Amino acid sequence: MNNEIWLKNDHSIIDQKILEVMDQIDHEHINTDLFAEIESGLKRHIFFEETILFPSLDDGDVRIHQMMEGLKMEHAALWKLMNIVDKEIADEIFIKIKKSVSEMLMILRVHNEIEEKNVYTLIKSNSEIDKFDIEALELPSGWICEKLRNRKNTK
Ligand SMILES: [Fe+2]
Ligand SMILES: [Fe+2]
Repeated sequence: MNNEIWLKNDHSIIDQKILEVMDQIDHEHINTDLFAEIESGLKRHIFFEETILFPSLDDGDVRIHQMMEGLKMEHAALWKLMNIVDKEIADEIFIKIKKSVSEMLMILRVHNEIEEKNVYTLIKSNSEIDKFDIEALELPSGWICEKLRNRKNTK
């Protein structure tokens, strides 16, 4: 499987798991392991995009650069929502969890489409990026997405 397909597949897996969580909330139950899977999967996905994929495809085209900046802002919104859901799960506030996860899903619908149509198509087949083993990547402890990191540093 090449990485364009792997990444698209990962989008669908995460979407599907979020829908499962929403369904559980409707039954006033939540499998915390499932949200933990969503969180670790999506954070690793974002880590790969921001540290490896985007830098390798950002080759001086202003339009592509601006688009990636927008995508990174959306990563920050998703990251914040995941941290919020963690707290809401600990407090078992189902209505709030549902609102937060549906917000994640709304962001992801638009975000994933932009990436699939405009970014992943730039991956050259058989290039290093195409063959990179994303599944073997581990999120370094304490790593947070770029746009949240910058905000933190300016405080
Ligand atoms: Fe992304
Ligand atoms: Fe993505």
